[in-house]
Order: sequence, then structure tokens, then C-alpha cells
Amino acid sequence: MSETSSSGRPIIIAANRLPVMRADGGQWTPSPGGLVRALYPMLRESGGTWVGWTGEPDDDPEPFTVEGVDLRPIPISADEMTLYYEGFSNDALWPLYHDALRESTFDNDQWQAYRSVNERFAAELAEVAPDESVVWVHDYQLQLVPGLLRERRPDLTIGFFLHIPFPPVDLFTRLPWRDQIATGLLGCDLVGFQRPKDAANFVATVDQLLDVAIDGNTIAHGGRTTSVGEYPISIDVAEVEEIATGRATRQRTSQIRARLGDPEVIMLGVDRLDYTKGIGLRLRAFARLLEDGRLDPTRHVMVQVATPTREAVEHYQDERASIERLVGEINGRFSRIGLPVVHYLYQSLPYDELVALYRAGDVMLVTPFRDGMNLVAKEYAAAHIDGDGVLVLSEFAGAADELTDAVLVNPHDERALQDAIVEAVEMHRHERRGRMSGLRDQIRKSDVQGWADRFLAALDVASTTRKES
Ligand code: F6P
Repeated sequence: MSETSSSGRPIIIAANRLPVMRADGGQWTPSPGGLVRALYPMLRESGGTWVGWTGEPDDDPEPFTVEGVDLRPIPISADEMTLYYEGFSNDALWPLYHDALRESTFDNDQWQAYRSVNERFAAELAEVAPDESVVWVHDYQLQLVPGLLRERRPDLTIGFFLHIPFPPVDLFTRLPWRDQIATGLLGCDLVGFQRPKDAANFVATVDQLLDVAIDGNTIAHGGRTTSVGEYPISIDVAEVEEIATGRATRQRTSQIRARLGDPEVIMLGVDRLDYTKGIGLRLRAFARLLEDGRLDPTRHVMVQVATPTREAVEHYQDERASIERLVGEINGRFSRIGLPVVHYLYQSLPYDELVALYRAGDVMLVTPFRDGMNLVAKEYAAAHIDGDGVLVLSEFAGAADELTDAVLVNPHDERALQDAIVEAVEMHRHERRGRMSGLRDQIRKSDVQGWADRFLAALDVASTTRKES
């Protein structure tokens, strides 16, 4: 992607987090999460503007530049962090948008804080966006921004991409502020989703809630139109391959295998520690397989990386406690001196260390109950330049639509998950290589660059249509 859209206009990105955050020593390091991982390398290549929060409460630095990217911080107070970020975004919207896996908290103070932070983003964007430029807003934390920005700046082309699932009508309509959120998104020229199902849920929702006329993927409302479409996000395949090919990575991969006791099979999980990811589920499946003798603790080990996230939210604290108890139980029962059977890291690892781990992983377990896409699944395939390795993938991850050469599984079915793990562990080399080659062909066909290009081209078309209608 260049810093201009396909029609040559400048682009401004808005996301809750800036692509960098302060590390312990005060220096800027990449922020967590797939959104940043996907967008930052593109912007870094070409320069561009990114509006977002540093991740620290009450942090209000002057605009600054990192690696050629112009960063415009939005200050968020400690109270707003509790109400807007931990509260409305991650304790109301997040569970609701993920199949209501946990109960949502609906609280008017949280909603007010969400509104006012969204207003702050819209005000900053209205100020920094050059005439007729393109603003690309990201994710569920900022769903009111398109509407608020449209009121201030009718000249702009506004796109929105939702990185997480959009829920079915019956779930979305539980939200006391459902009309405001749906209307906020209609401030866009184009709203993009991960899967066709998400786009269909959104269209059905606005059809039920608002006074709109729908024609295919175009929604007409109040004299304007908004287009809707699916644009499954991907990764920077070349970057992962380059890291995976490097000598340092190869050495690190061998070292990791040796440190784990050179087991026959290393099973790997890499997730933010989130209750949507099904970490406990896969640990329980692993334990059951050891208990039944279908796996052998002297030959099969598991590595689970769980990245700290949203630690102040109670559902996350509960999930962490339950996972750590499980790891302790499994290790207590099946480990040998100096050789734990589950290696658990509650840490955020540097990207090159992750790629080395992917390479060491013979079987990758990606078993969310619900996930917008899951870029870890794609990163694993990109890292396996050796053409080997098996991906076990939940049918409820957006990535399952594309990565059909994975061993697809319904994670709600305990027995099916156990069987899928055994199938992956015992898979014949020929089949493993065939499937990995299919996975790698698929991700090469649609990397993050292609994703952004497709979205921005469709956004240009949508804004032209809006202006002409
Ligand atoms: O895509 C889901 C998402 O919430 C992104 O918006 C975010 O960048 C990432 O996960 C990490 O979450 P958080 O910013 O809450 O740590």
C-alpha cells in the first residue's frame, strides 16, 4: 500500500491503539494484536498518518514519528480507560460480538465514555485529514467515529473495517445503544468485514433497526449510500518468510527443540490470553489424551504462549486463573524432573522468537470458540518454509473459510478435538506436506498488501458512487 489511496488521495488510519506503545524502558515497541501486526508494516513501508492511543492512561505526548509513520496520539484518562476501554469496548461489545461467550455489562457511564472518546477521535481526524482525503477507521472501539466525522467533514471518504465478528441480529439488538452504533457505521462509504456472514449480519441488523433501503451490498439511508463487503485480513507473508529463513531463526528453532528435550512432537498454542481463544479447551484435550495413553508425555509436549491482555477485566482474570490451574494440574500429573509436559509462557514475545517457535511447532493448535480471523494460523503456515507441520483449526475462526487444508474441528465437541489432535500428531509425512503446501499457496494468494489494496479500491468505488447518487 502507498500512503495514498488508489485514486491518489492521502490516507489516515484511526485505531484504538497506536501501532507502538511504551516499553518498560520508555522506548516505543510494537503494540499487541493482529490489527497492528497487519497494518503497521504497510504504513512503515510508505509513511502515513495513524491516529490512536498510546495504551497508557493520561498519556498525552506531542505528535511524533516512528519509522516514517506520523503518529497522532489521542489522550485517554484513567477513568476513560476503565469505562471506555475495559468497560464498554471489552466488557460490553467484545463478549456480545463473540457469541455472548461471557455476559456483557451494559452501563450508561461506560456508554457515555465510549461516545466521548469516539468524539475525540472524530475531532482529531477532522483536523488532520486533508481535503478530500481518505480516512480508514478500525475496529469495534471506534464504531461511532464514521458518523461523527461525516457530520464534521462531508468531503472525506470514510471506510471502516471490523476485525472481529459482527454478531447475528438477535445478539446485536440486546445492546441498549444499538441504533446509535448502527447509525455510526452508516457514516461510512464502505464498511468491511472479515467474512460474508459478518457482512450479512450487519445488513440484516440495519434493515431491522433503521429506515434504510437495501440493494445487494448497498444500503441507502438519508440521501446517501453505504456499501458493505467482506475483506478477509491477512499477514505480511514475505516478512514472516524472511524471518523464518534467517540463520538466527534456524539456530533458535533447534535450540528450542533441544531445550524441550527433543520430543517427537511439539504442539504449540499462541494466543492473547482471551476466553474466546479456547486455551483451556485444548489443554483439557491434551490432558485427556495423556490420561488415555493416546499421547505419551515422553514423546509429546505442548508449548502455550499466552500474551497478557486486558488484565483489569474480571472475565480475563478468571480465564487466566483457570488456565494456570490447569497447567499446574497437568504438569503435576504428567511431567518428569526437568521435563514439564506443558511449557506455559504468560508473556509477550518478540516477533522473531515467535517465528522460531512456529518453526519448532510440529502441530499448531488454534481452537477459538469464535474469532474474527486469527492471524496466528496464517503466521504458522507462512513460517513453515520447510513445507511441513500441521494446523488444527477451529471451524469458528474466520481463517477456516480460507485455510481448508487445516484439520478443521468443532472445538465444542471434546471428542472431535481429541481426535483432531491425534490425527495431526499421527499424520503421514506425505499428507502433512500436501496440506501445508495448500495452506501456503492460499496465504500467498492473499497477503495483507492484497487485503488493503482490495479494501481501498472498493472504498474509492463506494465514495464515487455516493457522490454521484
Ligand atoms: O482485533 C481485535 C483487537 O481488539 C484489536 O482491536 C486490538 O488491536 C487487539 O485485538 C489487541 O487488543 P487490545 O488492544 O485490547 O490489547
